[in-house]
Amino acid sequence: MEKCIKKIGIIGAMDSEISVLRSIMKENGSLKQTEAGNCTFNEGVINGVSAVVVKSGVGKVNAALCAQRLILQFGVDAVINTGIAGAMGGNLCIFDMAVSTDAVYHDMDAVEFGYKPTEIPQMKVSAFPADERLIKAAKSAFEKTNKSGERKIVAGRVATGDQFVAEKAVKNHIKEICSPVCVEMEGAAIAHTCYVNCIPYVILRCISDMADDTVKATYSFNEETAAEESSKAVIEMLAELSCGN
Ligand code: ADE
Repeated sequence: MEKCIKKIGIIGAMDSEISVLRSIMKENGSLKQTEAGNCTFNEGVINGVSAVVVKSGVGKVNAALCAQRLILQFGVDAVINTGIAGAMGGNLCIFDMAVSTDAVYHDMDAVEFGYKPTEIPQMKVSAFPADERLIKAAKSAFEKTNKSGERKIVAGRVATGDQFVAEKAVKNHIKEICSPVCVEMEGAAIAHTCYVNCIPYVILRCISDMADDTVKATYSFNEETAAEESSKAVIEMLAELSCGN
């Protein structure tokens, strides 16, 4: 994706994942809201880039519906998925960042018919590749927000499913079938939608939990901070991607 991005779609599943971005548009006076398909689409400008920020709701179908509407109704030419995730690999710790190289459905299972776990029957692609320019922008944006230098960003596969992973055994199974760096509930559905529409995408997720038996004790404590850290990196990313650069 070499050309300048004219309008970018930004999807978070929950309020905590989009509230900082929406506030920026409200404060700079650019916010215009449109209700459609059970979502509020927030159009405006962030760091010189026209953006549409939207809360999709949780899960794959909500995410795909929202991404498709962003593309067809709002005419975005790239999509960023921002939010939180459970750590899976890459030595990721709480508040580290994961950026997608590709995304798969960990709960796609047609093994009975000879397909590999995560393989989508009758589709050429089951691991949807993220856009190189967006990955690069995410990495350099993160470094600007990581002032203490204590956190890290890891590029790798994102595993998505309609399941909140909070058990070591489930975590190990997902690691075994697809070797992801993190797990969440929307990214691959957004990636899939972008792939079908030939639109570049990237997933940027801050780690809120370890996706194992420690989740109960940590998740709610970390959710808001992790969601905000991901939003902060997205804001920097937009500066990188603005047509002036
Ligand atoms: N989002 C944040 N943490 C998660 C987890 N453990 N499983 C699925 N989605 C998540």
